[in-house]
Amino acid sequence: DETKTGVKGLVDAGITEVPRIFLQPSPENLNTAQPSPLDLSLPTIDLDGIYEDPIRKKKVIEQVNDALGSWGFFQIVNHGIPIDMLEEMKNGALGFFEQDDEVKKQWYTRDFSGKHKLVHNSNFDLYTAPVTNWRDSFSAIMTPDPPQPDELPLPCRDILMEYSAQVMKLGCSILKLISEALGLDPSHLLEMGCAERLSIVGNYYPRCPQPELAMGTTEHTDAGFITILLQDNIGGLKVFYQDQWTHVLPIPGALVVNAGDLLQLVTNDKFVSARHKVVANKVGPRISVASFFMTDLTKTSKVLEPIKELVLDDNPANYRATTGKEFMSHFMRKGLDETSALVHFK
Ligand code: SIN
Ligand code: FE2
Repeated sequence: DETKTGVKGLVDAGITEVPRIFLQPSPENLNTAQPSPLDLSLPTIDLDGIYEDPIRKKKVIEQVNDALGSWGFFQIVNHGIPIDMLEEMKNGALGFFEQDDEVKKQWYTRDFSGKHKLVHNSNFDLYTAPVTNWRDSFSAIMTPDPPQPDELPLPCRDILMEYSAQVMKLGCSILKLISEALGLDPSHLLEMGCAERLSIVGNYYPRCPQPELAMGTTEHTDAGFITILLQDNIGGLKVFYQDQWTHVLPIPGALVVNAGDLLQLVTNDKFVSARHKVVANKVGPRISVASFFMTDLTKTSKVLEPIKELVLDDNPANYRATTGKEFMSHFMRKGLDETSALVHFK
């Protein structure tokens, strides 16, 4: 059926074998979607009471420091975003992908210039990546210069606006905790502009007839400062830590937080932007919604470099100065693969 679109369209059309463009070069290296008893356990940080209780807050700052210095990932509970809103956001994202193909096609583009506030496609690096991922996505720029209502698709229009306001608030709180974990003034990272730009990406991972042959999302590190990820209860996200892949187990009501490349760059490797990937699954669809925090890419004179306070005689700068725009252009050109974009800025 030629009118069907995306990876979802293939599954809806009833394919029983994974088409060639999705085949991984070494499928024996793919991990299963099943959690293993050998999985290490990713830290979960409880944010309850940190604004009232300075002792709790200090404890949480230590936990953030430990988690970002080792895993580069953690989960948070009692983060202040109501569970109903998380459900609505997942449903809104699902609603986008379940639209009629004729309607959904109107959002399909490979123009990432910012002209479109929301772009929809299967793989942003479709033409450069050696292998296509088993997922469809949309990406919406929410800040700065928020979209007009008609620039967002109906099924997720209102919830994207509401969720974006909440996740921005949460992201700013986390960036304050991270600044304190670095021994800096709480507002340090915010003043650097780490939350100037918020983009929200919705991912749809259709069930896969041969999950052992394809990947949901290729192994990669995130580009920005932090990512706040909302995932449903299906699972499949794995993070690389201590030489092994470990599942990020879905916890109802929790959000996943991870450091991106630019946080690793400005912290001069104190905090790590960990490799992660999503395995394909017989079960699905799986929905995830990722919120990416970064500097305003139009501020081309804003320099990003290892923070002076973190560069010491015995710990010289590991990266050269760059700009958000230069970093992102490199990241987008490179696409998703196991080589970190950071290598280019050593
Ligand atoms: C990603 O890292 O790009 C996606 C994460 C997820 O879907 O869980
Ligand atoms: Fe990611």
